[in-house]
Amino acid sequence: MSRVAIVTGAARGIGAATVDALVNENYRVVAVDRCRDISDVPYAMATRADLDVVVRRHGDAVLGLVGDVRSATDMQLAVETATRHFGRLDAAVACAGVLGAGGPLWEISDAAWDAVWSVNVLGTRRLIEAAAPKLISNGKEAHGRIVAVASAAGSTGLLHLAPYTAAKHAVVGLIRGVAMDLAPYGVTANAVSPGSTRTAILEASAKVYGLENVEAFAAQQPIGRLLEPSEIAAAIVWLCSSASSAITGADIAVDGGMTVS
Ligand SMILES: NC(=O)c1ccc[n+]([C@@H]2O[C@H](COP(=O)([O-])OP(=O)(O)OC[C@H]3O[C@@H](n4cnc5c(N)ncnc54)[C@H](O)[C@@H]3O)[C@@H](O)[C@H]2O)c1
Repeated sequence: MSRVAIVTGAARGIGAATVDALVNENYRVVAVDRCRDISDVPYAMATRADLDVVVRRHGDAVLGLVGDVRSATDMQLAVETATRHFGRLDAAVACAGVLGAGGPLWEISDAAWDAVWSVNVLGTRRLIEAAAPKLISNGKEAHGRIVAVASAAGSTGLLHLAPYTAAKHAVVGLIRGVAMDLAPYGVTANAVSPGSTRTAILEASAKVYGLENVEAFAAQQPIGRLLEPSEIAAAIVWLCSSASSAITGADIAVDGGMTVS
């Protein structure tokens, strides 16, 4: 029997790579993305065409759903879609995230702050709220899994990105807290914290620092290179598996040594 997962932010980048890696492990996946830009986020979100590409390369194993992680209704629909279409739900992966505007904190508008917090923190909460009751109802032997993508910014400070830094610290805290709530039910909740990974968000970071391209970020990582989305996805998929049953409330750095202190 195939396990079933929901992945948010699935139309490109780390989310799309996670869909690919889960399908490789015989999962069925509901791939959710907003597929529309967000005011006060100064770079483009994925499109419906991006999501369709991800869905098409997996045939019947992946169902695409346009939805916003900030909406409780949309996240409930994702859970209902997983159970109706694929018959069950085993894992929920909160990958959708935005970087937001850059600059010193005192120059960031409330609207820009709210955009970053609502997608990264409220969005993660909305997915967990929708998925947790279903994962609990499967019973302890079902290895229910929640994974949230935080960031190296969840444990360090990033220049001119205070809202993102604060929001990713909050994602780690949210995971630590809900992991305690879920522990009695055999459902684990963990965070994965990527370093600089070759996606649209990294290009947006390069713009914040006035860099011509993303390659300069490689020097911040002791392994001396940027990460590929598939390398983050590999850790996420492992945390979704029964092999990770002793790990909950953890924040797993997948950052080429960037945050080793
Ligand atoms: N790339 C990096 O260097 C890096 C480093 C650390 C953490 N991260 C985190 O990894 C996650 C994935 O980002 P990525 O690097 O793949 O960037 P990305 O911009 O390519 O992907 C983010 C996806 O989320 C979607 N999305 C945005 N807001 C949404 C919403 N409200 N509802 C549903 N979908 C929404 C976007 O359309 C996009 O497809 C994010 O949480 C990000 O903060 C990335």
